[in-house]
Amino acid sequence: MEKILLRNVDAPDSHTIGAYRSRGGYRALEKVVREMSPERLIDEIKASGLRGRGGAGFPTGMKWGFVPKDSPKPKYVVCNADESEPGTFKDRLLIEKDPHSIIEGTIIAAYAIRSHTAFIYIRGELSFGAKVLGRAIEEAVAAGYLGKNIFGAGYDIDLILHRGAGAYICGEETGLLSSLEGGKGWPKVKPPFPATHGLFGCPTVVNNVETLASLPWIVERGAARYAAIGTEKSKGTKLFSVSGHIRKPGVYEVDMGYPFKKFLEEDCGGVPNGKKLKGVIPGGASMPVLRADELDGVTMDYESFQAAGTLLGSGGVIVMDESTCMVRSAWNISRFFAHESCGQCSPCREGCHWMEKIFRRVERGEGKAGDLELILSVSGNIMGNTICPFGDAAAMPAAAFIKKFRPEFDAHIAQKKCTVSAS
Ligand SMILES: Cc1cc2nc3c(=O)[nH]c(=O)nc-3n(C[C@H](O)[C@H](O)[C@H](O)COP(=O)(O)O)c2cc1C
Ligand code: SF4
Repeated sequence: MEKILLRNVDAPDSHTIGAYRSRGGYRALEKVVREMSPERLIDEIKASGLRGRGGAGFPTGMKWGFVPKDSPKPKYVVCNADESEPGTFKDRLLIEKDPHSIIEGTIIAAYAIRSHTAFIYIRGELSFGAKVLGRAIEEAVAAGYLGKNIFGAGYDIDLILHRGAGAYICGEETGLLSSLEGGKGWPKVKPPFPATHGLFGCPTVVNNVETLASLPWIVERGAARYAAIGTEKSKGTKLFSVSGHIRKPGVYEVDMGYPFKKFLEEDCGGVPNGKKLKGVIPGGASMPVLRADELDGVTMDYESFQAAGTLLGSGGVIVMDESTCMVRSAWNISRFFAHESCGQCSPCREGCHWMEKIFRRVERGEGKAGDLELILSVSGNIMGNTICPFGDAAAMPAAAFIKKFRPEFDAHIAQKKCTVSAS
């Protein structure tokens, strides 16, 4: 499998502009601003089949195409580096080891929509990553890749690094924009979408770090080469961050469509200590869990994960062996969502706390008959009834844990204790 996103990360001093340039860095940007019109660039990215890697999988070229060309307002590009989904740590690797690929990709995206101001919004806790990115931006300015008249081609672009303050909801694109505007990180109702009404009410594209970091390779090698990798609808390669009960945790780059079981067992070394696999969350904590017996034939792409009853999401693979208490896992995840709900809409604000409280009492052996139905009912009432997809992100895993591991939850209630692990 050819490495596209991780092609630079193991090179010495990969975070520096010298190392990046010696490996072909910024050639794609030069090609774009000297030889391509924004329209041709958008067509090229559409042809590549690249879909957003922030979770929703929306086609990148199509998203750019929604930005009105003739708007008199300024246009903005925002690189979403908020990465806060539990189990997801793929963007961090690119930020720390290959910041120039993100900067180059962000400038390419800005050129595509005729923007002259771009932002990188980085998660508050990623202080080392912010330092690395900050230094890389200074290097790019000094080299003339940012600023006025880059490559002498008459195109001006500024890039501003903005640090978040540690809220998961600021990864949701409209929450991010509210925060970037200086307000609370409160999501906004869509439509209107950021492409027409984004930052300060101006046309804005928000793209994930991994999405943007894919662009230089696609521009240099051509859309057709990228589109030749992967499946019919899921093109290219994808980063997966693997954690939990697995021999070789880490960040992996995989061709879309790669067999999931093979990936876990061979590439990641399987479950350690002779234990059996019990369940896997394939796309970060907000995605429905799969039981081990549901993995046969599943491949690592948007369509296959969806057919299996879950979603690819952010590619945060969390592996759980047979010693894992699924009630405790469900409670743990629900605690995260109860803590991170921004509180704007009642189903999410109230529902997340109710689910957390009920999971907690079931986990502690204080559960009652009807508790599981209550969680399923609360989860069902959150789904689709909130301002932003955070509500669904909290509701989906809660319901999936109960449905997939029902006997374990029933046993917790009937026996008033955990029957799986001693913890
Ligand atoms: C609760 C929540 C958290 C999110 N967190 C992130 C994040 O940390 N990084 C990210 O790129 N996208 C995140 N997203 C998705 C963004 O809203 C948006 O879809 C994405 O940044 C668009 O970029 P893409 O088209 O390149 O995927 C989150 C969405 C939700 C609902
Ligand atoms: S769904 Fe939750 S996180 Fe999203 S706006 Fe409503 S309360 Fe806030």
